[in-house]
Amino acid sequence: MSSLLTALSGTRPETLPVWFMRQAGRSLPEYKEVREGTTILEACLKPDLAAEITLQPVRRHKVDAAIFFSDIMTPLVLAGVDVDIVPGIGPVIEEPIRTAADVERVVAHRIEDASAITEAVRLVVAELGEQTPLIGFAGAPFTLAAYLVEGRGSRDHLKARAMMHADPASWHRLLDWAAELSAQFLGVQVDAGARAVQLFDSWAGSLKRDDYLELVQPHSAKVLKAVEGRVPRIHFGVGTRHLLSEMAEIGVEALGVDYRTPLDEAAWLVPGVPLQGNIDPALLAAGWDALEAHARDVVRRGREAPAHVVNLGHGVPPTTDPEVLTDLVALIHEL
Ligand code: CP3
Repeated sequence: MSSLLTALSGTRPETLPVWFMRQAGRSLPEYKEVREGTTILEACLKPDLAAEITLQPVRRHKVDAAIFFSDIMTPLVLAGVDVDIVPGIGPVIEEPIRTAADVERVVAHRIEDASAITEAVRLVVAELGEQTPLIGFAGAPFTLAAYLVEGRGSRDHLKARAMMHADPASWHRLLDWAAELSAQFLGVQVDAGARAVQLFDSWAGSLKRDDYLELVQPHSAKVLKAVEGRVPRIHFGVGTRHLLSEMAEIGVEALGVDYRTPLDEAAWLVPGVPLQGNIDPALLAAGWDALEAHARDVVRRGREAPAHVVNLGHGVPPTTDPEVLTDLVALIHEL
């Protein structure tokens, strides 16, 4: 079995598996070359291109998993929602969803045709060997709703967090719909050959625990349930130390931990759960000696968990020197 799938099953493989969030993308010159003249959302819907970009970091870095090249916004695009990704800004929603009427309008959208995703995943899987699984992914309902309500990225998600209390019924309707889209997006990837999935609740860290439990967790649980028993599920959020057990208890095979919480502490907070993470992305630009010492420390702390998938504590910064990532993979494989 591949080292990633062994670790996700809760046992320790011979070599530590390693992959990086945002391993495909702007840190790679070969990515910039093939992306030339295509917007990111166009690239996500061109099967040949999405497959090629997915495979680039596997060839270059010898990571133990591919992550499907797409975006958490892709299911919204497939459902016909007016969303764009603006370079340097991120997702932008032309008409943010703020009122009950806005919610009624948006929840009418459905994904009718996901064949571009099916085709891209098939192309990737055909080229990856047994040893290197493809990880599918989706954005969690809260992170999607945070963009839909705010209209773009936000630090504290004030509008989304106000709406969930001002009109809980509309909020639940919006999240239930977002959960359906995410579940469908994951299902399509798994049907086409993805062998693990990651649910990105990148912005859940801005929620207090009670709000997460009542207004968000049931919807994330619904997404995870949709692929239960089919493939192992990784659940990840940024700044979610206060939510780790709440994120683990809805049925996941591993928990992604951001760079702020040391893995030995995370292992104490969620005993028995395999952990993924959490090399600080900032250290990629701090020189090899500092990075090596930090990576060794992360691996040492990760031994407190039943199994450890090495990753960064958030995505690869676009300015990263790709050679540093290749060297880091080699180091992890030696440890
Ligand atoms: O290698 C991989 O990780 C696979 C591809 C991937 C992308 N987006 C491609 C992408 C994945 C897993 C995502 C998920 C995603 N997208 C998340 C969750 C992960 C996280 O970072 O917390 C979020 C919040 C988004 C929304 C989004 N899309 C942002 C904030 C941005 C950055 C905008 C910018 O220019 O700074 C994007 C665009 C995007 N998605 C890029 C890539 C490679 C960069 C744009 C480009 O290459 O033109």
